[in-house]
Amino acid sequence: MYKILANTLFLGKDIHFLTECHSTNDVALEKIRSKEITEGSIVITDSQIRGRGQRGNRWWSEPRKNLTFSLVLQPYFLDTSEQFELNIIISLAVSEVLSDYLHGIKIKWPNDLFHEEKGKLGGILIENLVNQRGIEFSIIGIGLNINQDMRELPKASSFFSLTGMEWDRWEILKLIISKIEKYYIKLKNGDKSELRKFYLERLYKLEQWSSYDDGEVFIGKIKGINKEGKLIIEKTEGSLNYYGHKEVKYLF
Ligand code: BTN
Repeated sequence: MYKILANTLFLGKDIHFLTECHSTNDVALEKIRSKEITEGSIVITDSQIRGRGQRGNRWWSEPRKNLTFSLVLQPYFLDTSEQFELNIIISLAVSEVLSDYLHGIKIKWPNDLFHEEKGKLGGILIENLVNQRGIEFSIIGIGLNINQDMRELPKASSFFSLTGMEWDRWEILKLIISKIEKYYIKLKNGDKSELRKFYLERLYKLEQWSSYDDGEVFIGKIKGINKEGKLIIEKTEGSLNYYGHKEVKYLF
């Protein structure tokens, strides 16, 4: 699987395809350190054997069925306190592409690609290398379930499981890359509030009462995210509560 990606200015012009690797994020980091790759490069594999997910979880993906790749950005224009802006543009871009083909796609905070009824279709792991001036490199790892049969799984799904059809992974990748580039350029131009608005429009359970667990089970309503990307949930008595990663669980 190797073809030149079209329709972009810089993203995906340099592609490192590996038939197998541990984690594309780890390979991207090694290649940044050895100065083999720079902004716009992509590391992609057909078989990721030790894929990493958020919060130290593993990311499992059947070989040759899905998309597992990492792209490298150099968002020097972002302050370290603005790291969540990257989560916003990446999850927005991927969810928009998915929504062109599938109904019911949402962003589950912070950046899961999520089908309202069938569960998780993909995840994003963003790892930033920061220095005193800001974010020097950002490794954006994306895993998407495309042709893997996940119909038996209760909380995960794939393009195939939702549609009963096989999909061209490379075509989906091309669309994602050009959408990410578009939003990255928008972010660089300073259009943060519009991007944030688009992200919120796609946020799972926004403005809906639902059950959560922050140590105690409660009923709450997602009101949005703050500048650092914390999730804001209103409780029934009216208080606004701010949650970081791992601090609140969605109950279904
Ligand atoms: C999550 O939802 O927990 C994030 C999953 C991220 C998985 C991708 S697959 C490509 C890249 N390489 C990794 O090791 N992880 C990310």
